[in-house]
Amino acid sequence: MQNPTQANKTVIITGANGGLGYYCAEAIARYGQDWHIIIASRNPSKVDEAVRNLMTETEYPYIEGMALDLASLASARQFVQDFINGERPPLQAIVCNAGIQIVSDALYTEDGFEMTFGVNHLGHFLLVNLLSPHLSDRARVVFVSSDAHNPDVNTGMPHPRYQDAKLLAFPADYVDDTDIGNTGRTRYTTSKLCNILCAYELSRRLQKQQSKITVNAFNPGLMLDTQLGRDYSQAELSAFSTTISRTVLEKAKDSKAMGSALARLILDPSLDNVTGKYFDGLEEVQSSDESYNEKQATELWESSAALVKLSPRKAMLLQ
Ligand SMILES: NC(=O)c1ccc[n+]([C@@H]2O[C@H](COP(=O)([O-])OP(=O)(O)OC[C@H]3O[C@@H](n4cnc5c(N)ncnc54)[C@H](OP(=O)(O)O)[C@@H]3O)[C@@H](O)[C@H]2O)c1
Repeated sequence: MQNPTQANKTVIITGANGGLGYYCAEAIARYGQDWHIIIASRNPSKVDEAVRNLMTETEYPYIEGMALDLASLASARQFVQDFINGERPPLQAIVCNAGIQIVSDALYTEDGFEMTFGVNHLGHFLLVNLLSPHLSDRARVVFVSSDAHNPDVNTGMPHPRYQDAKLLAFPADYVDDTDIGNTGRTRYTTSKLCNILCAYELSRRLQKQQSKITVNAFNPGLMLDTQLGRDYSQAELSAFSTTISRTVLEKAKDSKAMGSALARLILDPSLDNVTGKYFDGLEEVQSSDESYNEKQATELWESSAALVKLSPRKAMLLQ
């Protein structure tokens, strides 16, 4: 065990009690050495267990669990307050990794937003905005997206359908609109498009302010060894695996390897000045045409700020 005073920068990883986020935390613990790692997730007992396991497996002591439910604006605000009140090394990175895919029904957050959009996009949007004044000068922010956001990539998933942010937040208001793609898997791919639109928009806003903070998006590719598909019934899972081609299945990734690739976006010194990019594993690639639509990104940003009631004083920091 090392001396706890050695940690000199903090990384917050959402949804890191399992799956991709857990392995991202593990890679930072193994290779980062001087990081204070915060596992931010919704289930306190799972978070405690993950922290214990990570400490044991890596023999790295600077790992902390904090409660964060991205389906609750109050929880995101409380998380930030708790973070500010604590004494930790400067905030050097945020990894917006937590994600859900709900196929059984339309669920809603405690604030009344459709759950997939609420957790995958709005919760992270609020979190990053509220934490932004506390980021170090050369901090890094990463949004975990998915190649399922891209209609030109064969993932077996439906194409995203982005019309406007309010429609995604309150799809029930638009029940008569047959063209909103209101199914769980479409909501998921659309939320993953939002992650990239949001990453690019934040990167542009920071660049306009001459900030050295970088923001990038990440695609781990299909990983069959995580819990993302937990809401699928056996029948739905078999239907999915028969609709996707063998080549898609053969290209499935291992979440441990992808966790390291995600950690690299935080750790690699050669990425110090790289911002507004999309990484497919270790490789920087183009994201979908739609993800570069600046008008759409601005609308998403401004509507999201209104939806989460971001106070102009705080929002101003990123205008
Ligand atoms: N698996 C894939 O094939 C794949 C492909 C492309 C992209 N991705 C992306 O990779 C990221 C990680 O997914 P994964 O595959 O590792 O899935 P996972 O094993 O289900 O992990 C998701 C994590 O998010 C947490 N989470 C869910 N809802 C939350 C909430 N309301 N507040 C806070 N944390 C919450 C979960 O906590 P609990 O354990 O408490 O539920 C869990 O720790 C997601 O953004 C996903 O979209 C995955």
